[in-house]
Amino acid sequence: MINIKRIGVLTGGGDCSGLNAVIRAVVKCAISRYGIECLGVLDSFDGLIEGPSTIPLTWHNTKGLLFQGGTILGSTNKGDPFKYKTLDGDKIVEKNLSEVVMANIEKLELDGLIIIGGDGTMAIANNFWQKKKLKLVGVPKTIDNDIWGTEETFGFHTAVEIATDAIDRLQTTATSHHRVMILETMGRNAGWIALYAGLASGADVILIPEIPFTIDAIVAKIEQRRTEGRRSTIICVAEGAAPKEGKQIIWKTVRDSAEPVRLGGIAQWLCEQLENRVDSECRYTVLGHIQRGGIPTGYDRILCTRFGTAAVHAFVNREFGKMVALRENEIKTIPIEEIAGKSRLVDPDSETIRSARDTGVSFGSVAKN
Ligand code: F6P
Repeated sequence: MINIKRIGVLTGGGDCSGLNAVIRAVVKCAISRYGIECLGVLDSFDGLIEGPSTIPLTWHNTKGLLFQGGTILGSTNKGDPFKYKTLDGDKIVEKNLSEVVMANIEKLELDGLIIIGGDGTMAIANNFWQKKKLKLVGVPKTIDNDIWGTEETFGFHTAVEIATDAIDRLQTTATSHHRVMILETMGRNAGWIALYAGLASGADVILIPEIPFTIDAIVAKIEQRRTEGRRSTIICVAEGAAPKEGKQIIWKTVRDSAEPVRLGGIAQWLCEQLENRVDSECRYTVLGHIQRGGIPTGYDRILCTRFGTAAVHAFVNREFGKMVALRENEIKTIPIEEIAGKSRLVDPDSETIRSARDTGVSFGSVAKN
């Protein structure tokens, strides 16, 4: 006999494709398998602070969500209830509003939460589990693919497809005008999107945060290509990539965000550096939030469905404080505590990097190609 009547569902952090597909999977599984009611919490934990703001999630209103980008619940990458930033005059002050969240959960008669989010959201979830014993299960989301403990996050595959398509399109101008074309992808401190999209589209140079680059090495690659009769070069650069002797380029700081640094601008910088050093004209494109938008790929839709249903089963089995994770192509659960404060970055000595190097890809580091 399951003593669970109603679960809250929330989406936190930056949006990505597949959030709605997870919501749909959670609702369908909860209703059909266990007769559990689902309540959607709006705008991440904010919905449990202000209001509370919720919507019922039913079989009917989650119809069609498999294909719909974004999140019908809204999201934010700002509000951590344990360090809730509010304005006091023109000063930002932090307040601990975690008790307000707990009181609202009780008021809404929720047995607990399914929390869909990235590493920031999982850190908040871990605090609620450790400090408040809030019953919760996490689902790993992010285009960055950098959550420790899962081999993949949903949203990543779709972002890679979008970036791959963008590079395919840039190839046309690159070859027609014999130019160096640079594409900047997102990913924060992880190079997964740049690596995978660069490999999938046959980029000549891939620059990722995990492998510091030099301008000399990139120039050498462009010149080598020219002497071989190839007058265009495609460079795929992750927003977090940085030169050996330099730093990541910060686009802006969002003061009231838990992770205030927003990276961006490396493609423009690179373009300016290269234009003075090579014979070809250089152009750059920043893909930005396009990587987070639109309909999820078939692969992501399936992963979302597996993650969403597994989260419900885990909740019913009282595996609280855990996150569902993809491991050796099976969905497992791992304690959220284990992942807190860690990131899953690209291993510079991995087989994927080696096979890229074997096919002539330069990572902008002279020593190893
Ligand atoms: O974590 C997802 C992500 O899209 C990163 O790749 C990027 O650096 C950041 O979020 C952008 O955040 P915002 O939407 O606040 O500009």
